[in-house]
Amino acid sequence: MSSTVPSKRERSTNSLPTGKGLLDWVKPVFASTVGAKFIVALTGFALTGFVITHMLGNLQIFLGAEAINEYAKKLKELGPLLWVARIGLLAVLVLHVGLTIKLKIRSNEARPIPYSHPKTVQATLASRTMIYTGLAILFFTLFHIAHFTLGVVQPVQEQVAVKEGEKKVETKEVGMLDLRDDKGRHDVYRMMIHGFSNPIVAVLYILAQLFLMCHLSHGVASAFQSLGANTPRLQSTWRCLGWAVTLLVGGGNLAIVVCVWAGVIK
Ligand code: HEM
Repeated sequence: MSSTVPSKRERSTNSLPTGKGLLDWVKPVFASTVGAKFIVALTGFALTGFVITHMLGNLQIFLGAEAINEYAKKLKELGPLLWVARIGLLAVLVLHVGLTIKLKIRSNEARPIPYSHPKTVQATLASRTMIYTGLAILFFTLFHIAHFTLGVVQPVQEQVAVKEGEKKVETKEVGMLDLRDDKGRHDVYRMMIHGFSNPIVAVLYILAQLFLMCHLSHGVASAFQSLGANTPRLQSTWRCLGWAVTLLVGGGNLAIVVCVWAGVIK
């Protein structure tokens, strides 16, 4: 006796929703491949916006401790707004990663046996490795938050007065977040100098930027295509834009790490 319940594969994912609630409209968008690609593209743009802004903010290290520490202080003073931005960014990241993994699983199911002539498929290395470079960036971000936001990776040997007001000092191990400048602000400048003076940390950051560049070089152009802007002329415009973003973000971030490591900023 055959079952009348349709399997997951048989269920239609591109019919219009019948219900009236918001979820009835949102669910099919997430369930369909086109809808999921659309959301991956939108969230990808949001994350790209974040990495560009973050890099531009961090470039202020070239202006000196005063500029970058004041910038960090202003960000912290945003208070609840900063938390809204953090939670929004996390939601965007979860959607981007979750839907990408779902799409990858779906495409593997549709093609369980790989192409027998991989070279005949016109795909760049960056496009074929998107899932891996994406996961590498995700792991880097977790490490990076532990390193700079929580300050738990690299303790600092700090000279502190034995008693308050006394000249006699002793060397004590403190966390990165305990570093303060002479105005009592969170010393992001010294955090970065301490961080990237360590060759292992510097190499880790450099590798992460190379993965990020690889991901952006394909991701930006591909996001425009997922949004439907797909004519041959537009395709080359998006490719150029993708490379411009890649070189801007990668170049800026690498400049910070390399200049600290090489002692240009100290
Ligand atoms: C060399 C490149 C980078 C440098 C120098 C850098 C520097 C920093 C610093 C100093 C902080 C802590 C800010 C503070 O406590 O005031 C931070 C936070 C953060 N960074 Fe980066 N970053 C870099 C690259 C990246 C990249 C590539 C990503 C994402 C892919 C990223 C994502 C984040 C996130 C999510 C936070 C936490 C923000 C928050 O909690 O408000 N960073 N970064």
